[in-house]
Amino acid sequence: MSEIENLCDITIFGGHGDLAFRKLMPALYHLFRDGYLNHQSRILTVTRREMSNEEHIELVRVKLIEFLKEGEFDAKRFEEFADRLLVVKVDLGDEESYAGLKKILDEHPSRDRVNYLSTAPDFFGAICKALSRWELITPQSRVVLEKPIGRDLISSRAINVEVLKYFEESAVYRIDHYLGKDTVQNIMALRFSNRIFMPLWDASNIDHVQITVAESVGVEGRWGYYDDYGAMRDMIQNHLLQLLCLVAMEPPCSLDADSVRDEKVKVLKSLRPLTPTDIELKTVRAQYAKGSIDGESVPGYKEGTGVEMSNTETFAAIRADIDNWRWNGVPFYLRSGKRLRRRNSEIVIIFKSVPHSIFANKGRCISQNALVISLQPNESIELKLMNKIPGLTEQMHLQQVDLELNAPLNTERKPEAYERLMLDVIRSNPTLFMRLDEVEAAWRWADVVLEGWADNIVQMKSYGAGSDGPGAAIAMIERDGRSWYDER
Ligand code: BG6
Repeated sequence: MSEIENLCDITIFGGHGDLAFRKLMPALYHLFRDGYLNHQSRILTVTRREMSNEEHIELVRVKLIEFLKEGEFDAKRFEEFADRLLVVKVDLGDEESYAGLKKILDEHPSRDRVNYLSTAPDFFGAICKALSRWELITPQSRVVLEKPIGRDLISSRAINVEVLKYFEESAVYRIDHYLGKDTVQNIMALRFSNRIFMPLWDASNIDHVQITVAESVGVEGRWGYYDDYGAMRDMIQNHLLQLLCLVAMEPPCSLDADSVRDEKVKVLKSLRPLTPTDIELKTVRAQYAKGSIDGESVPGYKEGTGVEMSNTETFAAIRADIDNWRWNGVPFYLRSGKRLRRRNSEIVIIFKSVPHSIFANKGRCISQNALVISLQPNESIELKLMNKIPGLTEQMHLQQVDLELNAPLNTERKPEAYERLMLDVIRSNPTLFMRLDEVEAAWRWADVVLEGWADNIVQMKSYGAGSDGPGAAIAMIERDGRSWYDER
């Protein structure tokens, strides 16, 4: 714990939004409670609403109780935390209204400043401009940009150009909260601290990779945002591509920010652009219709919204290919959707079959080895191996067994992704944040698919809420003679 170093003023724009209450405040509360946030630091919530500090503190208290896990809220510690909370009314688009914020921040002009932009991306430029006009950007200032940064390469560029007029690239922290998850960081530990994987991790040994992020929740009151984005922009362009990068990247020369990001960006730049035929055969987009989850009936995506027409996908599946030496001919199948039967995020590395089976026709066939990295809801790493079934049968019978590579049980609370990321911003460590070239390379690849979908190269499919997704996603992978790991 190095509380003394971490003295800063954290300003959350969009501070009364869903993300701020659900994730950011709980993360800051934990950091404060566990001694990672200097007790003189201040947390300024910027909101459009007129509100006294007491009302704001009460609101934060109620929301923390709602969003912290059972037993995590401590009334006494909250009192100390509340002492660090301030609220300030600003109309984000009106530069004059930033005067109140200036007054507060100028009380400590030499403190580190974290500006967390948890607003719609359209405001990013205006906020940075206003901060600059009021001389609130100091050499110790950083800006955190929540995703999505734009809807495509052009709009993402426009936003970044605006922000970079006022902040150096080294002060810009683009969040992808998947990178803050402990299990996701463990992918690097697994790959780069275990020599046994080194010779296996390439096209001569790996048949293909599957990356799935399945959610059972719907859009959770975020319809206004989601309908404009859909699964491709909301999940695949960022979270799933980042997971792909961690699986596919070359070993960085060190763990410093640029070494890691240099390797990730090489992967993104090596993604093969999809042709119209690829879009037809190797992508699936679908929207959920009514169904039921855990015995509860669930309305379809459009139902109850008052909107009859929406061409937004709530499910996407894509085969990505990486054109480099290591991954030549190894497909990466990506899949993500909402309102699916169960929440399940996993990366499955499927190895090639043995070159010649001496067991063929003797007992069961040999399954391919697989390394299954489960991220959510349970965290585990399993290596699937073949083993002899004990016994005196004349023919040797085999079965698949799991070698579990799980970390020893640790009873300590696992930090949430936003705690790790917030602390890294406070410490000025950008390793787990996306550099401009990464965001652009990811959009460049995603844009081709999105344009193909906009041209209706592939039709929107439907799937029932509570199902495993559209049959077209199964057909997509089966065309390559493969199947989804969880369908086997
Ligand atoms: C967010 C998306 O980035 O990630 C949401 O905008 C999605 O739509 C969420 O539900 C999933 O995050 P997690 O950590 O719950 O897997």
